[in-house]
Amino acid sequence: MAARTLLTAGITGVGMSFPEKRLTNADLEKMVDTNDEWIVERTGISERRIAEKGVGSSFHGAKAAEAAMEHARIKPDDVDLIIVATVTPDMAFPATACLIQEMIGASNAWGYDLEGACSGFLFALQAARAQVMAGLANRVLVVGSEVMSSILDWTDRNTCILFGDGAGAVVVEAVPESRVGIIDAINRIDGMGAKYLNMKAGGSVMPASVETVEQKLHTVYQAGRDVYKFAVKGMANVTKEIVDKHNFTARDVDLFVPHQANIRIIEAAQRRVGLEDSQVVITIDKFGNTTAGSIPSALAVAHQDGRLKEGSLVVLCAFGAGFTWGSCIMRWTAP
Ligand code: UT7
Repeated sequence: MAARTLLTAGITGVGMSFPEKRLTNADLEKMVDTNDEWIVERTGISERRIAEKGVGSSFHGAKAAEAAMEHARIKPDDVDLIIVATVTPDMAFPATACLIQEMIGASNAWGYDLEGACSGFLFALQAARAQVMAGLANRVLVVGSEVMSSILDWTDRNTCILFGDGAGAVVVEAVPESRVGIIDAINRIDGMGAKYLNMKAGGSVMPASVETVEQKLHTVYQAGRDVYKFAVKGMANVTKEIVDKHNFTARDVDLFVPHQANIRIIEAAQRRVGLEDSQVVITIDKFGNTTAGSIPSALAVAHQDGRLKEGSLVVLCAFGAGFTWGSCIMRWTAP
């Protein structure tokens, strides 16, 4: 039997959506023992967005998806798969993908949620790419959306200053081979990292109880300094690996769009590859760490700023809970 030819997948639309409400470092100074100088110096964050109470990840996820569809000039009925990367689904089940499907009226789509923490968007992008390359899906919406504020301990200065709420989305579809599209992805997981960054309660091991609530086990736990060391190494190495693998040099890269967890981690990855500041997209100052939302929304910001052009060589990378990490390299194909 003759082998089937694989199609080429590319991103053809991007969108983002953030809550209006800003929480500045000055606001946080009134809530915990911290200060603007420490937060800016150690993380690069000046402010973050916070969703209204009761607003779930589906809300901004759907808005980002609508913006991405408009950019890709497709209609909700054209979408046949929705993959939502999130650690803050509206509910344990059903999947947030189902809720977004209804909100945007994608009547021909199936879909599911994918939990890869801060690398969730990269993992979902690879899943979408595989479906498109195999010819099993024509148009895939990949959404990264979080309401991190719903799982933070607002009395813990180690974690509450780091995260923000927001969403980004892309449309992935087949593009002509000549436009190149997504070239490659490297994705990794290592469960030894589970102990350093997690939310202990609310799953099957530790269901919700009076004790779990009293002990604040439904909030993010992070051994920051440990995660920092792994993240610097993981993100820098996996970015260098994918650039070298395809015989590109730093000069070939038009835009580096890293997960936005800490400006110092981004700078370490940037230095490893030898990139100039002008080649890097930074959104952490305004939005903090939006977990699965950070890369797709940073792509949308870069698009809005006119930094993405047909054929631009774009490198993405992420590191997060799990541990999970990865990188992706592509030629830009959005209209
Ligand atoms: O996105 C998923 C993956 N996550 C990451 O990549 C995050 C990785 N980790 C980090 O980005 C950094 O470790 C943090 C930003 C979380 C922390 O920065 P750090 O430079 O590693 O600080 P630290 O945790 O080592 O704390 C240094 C000091 C401590 O005081 P002592 O023990 O030296 O007296 C902390 O108690 O800073 C103190 N501190 C604070 N001070 C003011 C911790 N949080 C704060 C705060 N304000 N918010």
